[in-house]
Parts: sequence; structure tokens; C-alpha cells
Amino acid sequence: MSELLIRGRVLTFVAEPQGIDDTAAWRYFEDGAVFVRGGKVVATGDYAEVRGRAGADVAVADHRPNLVLPGLIDTHLHFPQTQAIASYGAQLLEWLNTYIFVEEQKFCDTGHAAAVADRFMDELISNGTTTAVAYCSVHPESVDAYFTAAEARGMGMIGGKVMMDRNAPDALRDTPQQGYDETKALIAKWHGRGRARYAISPRFAITSTPEQLEMSQALVAENPTCYVQTHLSENKDEIAFATSLYPEAKDYTDIYARYGLLNERMLLGHCIHLSDREIAVLAETRSVGVFCPTSNLFLGSGLFDRDRFDKAGARWSVATDVGAGTSFSMLETMDEAYKVLHLRGQKLTPFNSFYRMTLGNARALGLEDQIGSLHAGANADIVVLDSSAKPAMEYRMRTATSLAQELFILQTMGDDRCVAEVYVAGKAMKAKASAKARVPETA
Ligand code: GUN
Ligand code: ZN
Repeated sequence: MSELLIRGRVLTFVAEPQGIDDTAAWRYFEDGAVFVRGGKVVATGDYAEVRGRAGADVAVADHRPNLVLPGLIDTHLHFPQTQAIASYGAQLLEWLNTYIFVEEQKFCDTGHAAAVADRFMDELISNGTTTAVAYCSVHPESVDAYFTAAEARGMGMIGGKVMMDRNAPDALRDTPQQGYDETKALIAKWHGRGRARYAISPRFAITSTPEQLEMSQALVAENPTCYVQTHLSENKDEIAFATSLYPEAKDYTDIYARYGLLNERMLLGHCIHLSDREIAVLAETRSVGVFCPTSNLFLGSGLFDRDRFDKAGARWSVATDVGAGTSFSMLETMDEAYKVLHLRGQKLTPFNSFYRMTLGNARALGLEDQIGSLHAGANADIVVLDSSAKPAMEYRMRTATSLAQELFILQTMGDDRCVAEVYVAGKAMKAKASAKARVPETA
């Protein structure tokens, strides 16, 4: 079985940092190493000690002085929107109708879906993201393209076909029965195959009839290990439209509650304009609110209120939400998260940012035994970060005097150029992913 010693300044979390100097929440090894065998972490610690656990002729990937962390995790984005990032000038509903529902129609073409899926996975890897949860298009073939591209790279990806049977162009609408049948077949094909996991994906209340949400309820009940994902309370016009379509519901959250969709595997994108009652329901059901800062700023949707989530004991995660999100980079995402929370009078510490991109998001997915930290037995999904990759960063780093400062510089000034290497299940992937991304394509 292949063995590798990954050497560098190793940082991994064991708990959520409770304050700026909560050193018990993380482990840092200045001259550290991660010993990998057969795609899994065998041991993490000081190089001298970990070196002794490996054979004398073990290969060493020496990344000093770079940081070695668990691969980053993105809990919400849209793979068919890869070429629709930066679509100008509209808020959510107009943006969907003008740009997104046009773009997603291209995914009836399996060749196009496969080409975009390849680029999408390479873009994630280039940005240090090793696991993500994505919406595919309404076409089942787009899900095949997505999981095929993930499988080819050994990535642990989560995703599903969007179900949408109203308020969208004919070419993007399924029916409640078709959405059910296609989702069921895709779950049978992909859920649990290698590292693939399925997410049952009614797009949002506006594009699903009550009959489709009933079918979603049946799928969730019949497939208790699948994830569920949808959108909630992103934009004021969206909320007014959604609640007008379900007049019997107490509020937007209650629409999903009435159809039995809220559980600990539910990921709800955005969750910006929620009442206390709604946040209490999310806490009670252990559903996860997904904070998508670049998207929320780009579409002018609003500012996520983390402190209300924390006070209510509600779970939340972080995500890019490409293509309303403007970057695949989780570093850039946390840069904007910091600013959004700042506008709310809330602080996001550098250690908390890095916790959120790794172990925090792994916990939101219930996958903390497998990803998000570098404990023995975890998948060897690893990112190597260079805090001096850009000249302006190198110059700024000369005045940095602590790890917290370095992490904050990485988050504030960094992007894919700081990702020096990425390991997926122990295999180095960055060079290939970046090289392919530079080759012009026909699609
Ligand atoms: N709500 C329903 N669909 C979408 C989408 O594709 N992006 C965003 N940001 N919000 C949505
Ligand atoms: Zn979304």
C-alpha cells in the first residue's frame, strides 16, 4: 500500500474555537507531518515522531515552510452555474430568470455537462476544496456527469438533481412523479458508491408544487441516509412569493417543516431573513443554515446573522454558492464572511474561520469521522497553503508575528494562488487540475 509523509507546518482542529486565544481547539506542529497510507491518515504530529512510524524508505513531500491543513469543504454551490458567475445587475428572482434558467438548459447536452463537471472539479481542487455539496441541473445526466468527474479524482462529493416543476421554463421542469422516479434511480446508482453521497434537492418552495414537496417528503422518508438541500429566506421578494404559494404555512420555514423535510441532514441555503420562531425550528430539527457571504453580497440579498443562530443553538455552515457566489475559493469566501459579520457588529476570529472551512463544515455534514481534520483514520484530503504566494502577501507576512495573523492574512489576501498543493485521498492533485484548467476547450 502506498505510503507518504507530508511535511510542513501542520494545523488541525479538534473543537470549535471559543475565543481568539482558545488554543485547546486546535493542534499545531511547527515542524509537523501527516503520515498517509492507502489514502488515509495514519498519524499526525511532530515530524520527528511521525517519521519514526513510517518505513525508512517512505516518500517525503516536504512542504516547509507552508501550512498543511485538512482539505477545505464547501457546503453549497451549483455545478451548472460554473459559467454563469458574474452575471450582472439583478437580485435573486430576476437573476434566476434572466441568467440561470437559461444557463441550466444547456445541461440537457451530456457532452456539455461532462465538460463543465470536469472543469468544476478541477476548479474546486485548485482552490483547495476536496469535498463539496452541489446542486446539479434538473437533468439526471448532469448528476451522472458530476459524480463521474468526482469519482475519476477520488473526491468525496455530495450532490443531486434539482427537482423543479413550476415557475421555470418548460425545458427545466420535471413533474412530481418524474422528479421522484429520477431521484430514486440516481440514489440507487450513486449514493454510497465509493465516496459519493446523494442530496435530495427540491430547488426551493417557489419552483416546487405541493405535490412535488410531498414526493420529496417520501424520498426523504425512504432514504434516511441521504442529505436534503434547498434554499430558504434569501431575498425579501422570494419570501413574499414563496409564502403566497403556501398560504397555510406559518412562514417560509414552516413550508419545509410541513413536508417533513427538516432534519439533521438538511442544508438550507442562505437563511438571512428568519424570525426567531424560524431559527428555533431549525435548532429543534438540527437543520443546518448555510451562510453564503459572497453570494449574499453579490445578489444584494442581505447579511447572515450568525449570533442569532449561535444563541438559539442552531447549526450553520459556510459555502461559496457559486454561481451567485463570486469565487470558488473558501479563503475568499471567509474574507467576505468576516466583512458581513463585521457589518452586523459580530466578529469572526481567524481560527474560527479556518475551523469553519474544515472541521465545522465536516460536522455540519455529519462527516467529522472522515474529513475536516487530520486524525488517524481520516481520509487524507489535505491542502497545503502558502501565505506568501502573492508579492503583496509576502510583503505583509514580513510583519506578521503570530499564527492567528498569518491565517487572517491568508483569508483576507489569499485565493487559489495560495494553494500550493492538494491531496485527495493521499494523491497530489493540484498541478494536474491547474494545468487542465489552462487548456482551451471547445465546450
Ligand atoms: N434559490 C433557488 N435557486 C437558487 C440558485 O440557483 N441560487 C441562489 N443563490 N438562490 C437560489
Ligand atoms: Zn444556491
